[in-house]
Amino acid sequence: MLFDKLPQHIAVIMDGNGRWAKEQGVSRVKGHQAGAESAEEIVRECGRLGIKRLTLYAFSRENWKRPRYEINYLMKLLRQYLIRERPKLMKNNIKFAVIGRIEELPAKVQDEITRSIKATEHNTGLTLCLALNYGARTEIADALRKICQNGIDVSAINEETLRKYLYDPEMPDPDLLIRTGGEMRVSNFLLWQISYTEFWVTPKFWPDFSKEDLYEAITEYSRRERRFGGRTQ
Ligand code: FPP
Repeated sequence: MLFDKLPQHIAVIMDGNGRWAKEQGVSRVKGHQAGAESAEEIVRECGRLGIKRLTLYAFSRENWKRPRYEINYLMKLLRQYLIRERPKLMKNNIKFAVIGRIEELPAKVQDEITRSIKATEHNTGLTLCLALNYGARTEIADALRKICQNGIDVSAINEETLRKYLYDPEMPDPDLLIRTGGEMRVSNFLLWQISYTEFWVTPKFWPDFSKEDLYEAITEYSRRERRFGGRTQ
């Protein structure tokens, strides 16, 4: 598949696992399991297409409000995913990264995150970034706290200062934000970074999202004219 213009950084709100499960008449956790399989396919495809970065919203700070069994299952799934995917990340030259309050995740999950980051640190292909225990307002508040703790002079604070204190200062702004499950909202995801990001929303539930849907989103993106607040003739 060839595209006129490829987004360098794609961010995804993977929504609709629960509704997919309901539609199939299976438990919500089966929906998350199917969601993890979808994620696998999309990661592989983004790497193959030469996309530089893929950020997946895998667990929000708001997700702690879900029933205990569902949270436990998501943590187990995440840990298994990290262990299972590590050799594939290596084989496909994918670098692993995270954003979010990682220190509040279960220790066993943190250990696997650290292992994946370490193992893949010299890989040069796609960067796969998982947003875990992530909330954009918390990210901005955490950045402000670090700025104050570092005693930065108030007159020296500008947009670049703030960016430097976000969870991953190296992260470029996303070019394209994909949301599955049909809702037209941002849900506290990357508020600082999506100022000029192109949105693409599909009613499909995340477990049904395939590489063909990814191609459709990229094709639509490549047709859009981005002006970044400026204007063309
Ligand atoms: C939203 O579906 C999805 C989540 C809260 C979690 C996302 C997790 C996965 C896709 C699986 C794990 C992923 C990785 C990369 C290991 P929902 O439950 O909010 O669906 P609903 O809106 O239909 O209820």
